Amino acid sequence: MTVQNPLREGQTIRRPAEPCTLVVLGATGDLTGRKLLPALYNLSRDGHMPSRFAIVGFARRPKSDDEFRNDMFDALKEFSRAKPEGREQADAFLSNVFYHQGQLDSPDDFRALGAHLDRLEKEKGLPGNRLFYLAVSPEYFEPIVSAMRDANLAKPRNEGEWVRIIIEKPFGEDLKTAKELNRKITAVFNESQIYRIDHYLGKETVQNLLAFRFANSIFEPLWSSRYIDHVQITMAEEVGMPGRRGQYFDKTGITRDVVQNHVLQLLCLTAMEPPASLDADSLRDEKVRVLRAIRTMTVDEVKANVVRGQYGAGSLRGEAVPAYRSENQIEPDSVTETYVAIRFNVRNWRWAGVPFLLRAGKRLPKRATEIAIVFKRPAHEIFDVDHEFKRPNTLALRIQPDEGISMTFAAKQPGLATTLQPVQMDFRYGSSFGQASPEAYERLLLDCIIGDGSLFTRADEVEEAWRICTAIQQAWDQLPKPTDMPNYEAGSWGPKEADKLTSDLITGWRRL
Ligand code: BG6
Repeated sequence: MTVQNPLREGQTIRRPAEPCTLVVLGATGDLTGRKLLPALYNLSRDGHMPSRFAIVGFARRPKSDDEFRNDMFDALKEFSRAKPEGREQADAFLSNVFYHQGQLDSPDDFRALGAHLDRLEKEKGLPGNRLFYLAVSPEYFEPIVSAMRDANLAKPRNEGEWVRIIIEKPFGEDLKTAKELNRKITAVFNESQIYRIDHYLGKETVQNLLAFRFANSIFEPLWSSRYIDHVQITMAEEVGMPGRRGQYFDKTGITRDVVQNHVLQLLCLTAMEPPASLDADSLRDEKVRVLRAIRTMTVDEVKANVVRGQYGAGSLRGEAVPAYRSENQIEPDSVTETYVAIRFNVRNWRWAGVPFLLRAGKRLPKRATEIAIVFKRPAHEIFDVDHEFKRPNTLALRIQPDEGISMTFAAKQPGLATTLQPVQMDFRYGSSFGQASPEAYERLLLDCIIGDGSLFTRADEVEEAWRICTAIQQAWDQLPKPTDMPNYEAGSWGPKEADKLTSDLITGWRRL
């Protein structure tokens, strides 16, 4: 449904944003200042926030409203997409921001928070619509949910009002813990109140994938095993382990950190059947079907289809960078994988026999996330096809940072000889639209305020993704500890061994 946005003449939105209160639990953490408050500030500047709202930061440290506002002003200056021109401009927004001190696992402190919210809502004439953002480390998810239940904060008090929670990743650390967490949360909240965030789904170009596939008629007929040879999904990062990141990462590894969520989401959007509509459940039903069509791997299948790696010392952009094992907070003999490449099959009618190759890695030569659809060779070759063998028709959907879509095809070089050369048709998001995209968190926060869960993951989706990744982790736990780590140099494209996954395909891993 689209309606006129009451806040902006001529601008339509899917649903109006109703007045509400946003409570950020863990408000003194990194995420609040870097992402959440800047996103809310930008939404407010662009006229997308409700006509009336309050934002309440909740955390352990004692702080006054003014102190919290000052911290958030500094955060806006540093991290906001649109920087405030001065304090006055920011104050229009910051005057809606408040602070409440409390322990994250104390029902009494949540009762006091409830009383604070009641007061604020009364003063500001707000209804009891409340959005709780769990910007905390995962060990607090359960205590917070129980404290909210005990303090009567989990359900709306009046007819027509809503209470929603947003949960950050990691959502569990394997299938068992994810199921357990889902069970505990759904004992207190209905599924429709729960918004599990995967910030990749908030990225413009990820959403554009849906538009590309389902708002055009020319690609869909080609989108199957009949014409597609294989699919490559890459999430390459330059970063290593900045700050205290290693503490979390060394216990997690790249498979659980980004494959279980971001990379498998990209695979789902690439492989899913057209949904009946864009509503949350139609979309999520189709994504879950894709995950269900991926088999749980046995230990032998993991050995054959998964390659893990860890970076040693190397150089990136001309600067020496240390080995993973020498990074801050990493065990000196760690075998945690900083790179993984996986070959899957999606076992359904559309994708029978089409390999899906996924790879994700830290300290690769450049930051790039891309989905490449590699097409089969023509059924009957009439040209000297040397070049085409190396560069088959490929549709590359660049998610970031150079957002766009390109199609590679063969063209005849000018001249008397019949020599073919691969050329590209290129669409660039930035130059075609020329406007800054909202940050993923802007989109996702607004969607949650208006009650649209289509870009959030449902319980069954999270569990299916964990089923796939947990099998890999369990196989590694059963196999002897790798003795070849580190097995790729920082600044290279990962371990040589990953090439075995593409050896029977018409092209190897793409060089991005
Ligand atoms: C996070 C992972 O979810 O995504 C990080 O925990 C990773 O390890 C990050 O660096 C990448 O996000 P983006 O938006 O920079 O691609």
